[in-house]
Amino acid sequence: MLVTGKGGVGKTTVAAALGLNAARRGKRVVLCEVAEQTRLGSMLGRLPHEGLEAVSVDPERAKQEWLRYQLKSRTVASVLGGSGLFQYLTAAAPGLTELVTMGKVWDLAQLEPRAGGQGYDLAIVDAPATGHGLAMLRAPSTYANIARVGPVGRHAERIDSFVRDPAQTGVMTVALPEEMPVNETVEFERALQRELDMTVDAIVVNALHPARFNKEDVRRLENAGGGKVAQAAIDAALSEHRRARGEHAQVRRLRRAASAPVVTLPRVFEPELGREHLERLSVELERRL
Ligand SMILES: Nc1ncnc2c1ncn2[C@@H]1O[C@H](COP(=O)(O)OP(=O)(O)OP(=O)(O)O)[C@@H](O)[C@H]1O
Ligand SMILES: [Mg+2]
Repeated sequence: MLVTGKGGVGKTTVAAALGLNAARRGKRVVLCEVAEQTRLGSMLGRLPHEGLEAVSVDPERAKQEWLRYQLKSRTVASVLGGSGLFQYLTAAAPGLTELVTMGKVWDLAQLEPRAGGQGYDLAIVDAPATGHGLAMLRAPSTYANIARVGPVGRHAERIDSFVRDPAQTGVMTVALPEEMPVNETVEFERALQRELDMTVDAIVVNALHPARFNKEDVRRLENAGGGKVAQAAIDAALSEHRRARGEHAQVRRLRRAASAPVVTLPRVFEPELGREHLERLSVELERRL
């Protein structure tokens, strides 16, 4: 399961919540964060759970490793004669980092037990921001087409068929209930369909503010008099209410425009999400999915 979305919208939170749910049902889960530095580790530190493991894939490092490995291989070395050309080529090759990253993720997601290991029932990938998420999903197919023969092409093809098999790979996107993010989410779903013939399994709208008042409440608040302090409190409450109304309108718009089911998660009013908040969000998510 690949969890994608713009920066800071709650991908890591949703990935952790999903992992927690599956682990609660007795599944062996690996949470894989694709990023340069690890934050999932610290989030998992707040929700240790049996059957839940976290790993991190650093795309740049994965590519460097791959390059070193490839340069040792005789075929490539004999073609390029150990010149700097290969390094130069791969640095310029679009999507190579993504391909190698997907390869790493794919290795992890091989759900059979590996030598000495337990194997996993589910791999949840905390993908980079949407554009990159699409690039990651697309890279194997691009390379399978470019390098039709040879080990790289075969490898890419195997990853591509894994990625595009809905029985093996799912895609979930996370967005905030605002106009631009809603547009981008719809665009992502369409691009995924158009370019890879893949569908989004679910869209999570995160951090939705609650609409606390009904029409009658609002009318009463608008007409309520009072001192300066009371007026300020009423104004603040009404402004929050209007914001929540706007957010709910965006959710409705998304539901109309998207093909995938749209589920919402509430905004938690805490400066930092602790274990109990994550637990609560995970229960909410499980109920709504
Ligand atoms: N429903 C929520 N209510 C309140 N705070 C939230 C909620 N979801 C996430 N947050 C907080 O928002 C911040 C960003 O969340 P998170 O790290 O999950 O986003 P992200 O999409 O993974 O970000 P990045 O793109 O930087 O990796 C975190 O501090 C997180 O605790
Ligand atoms: Mg994150």
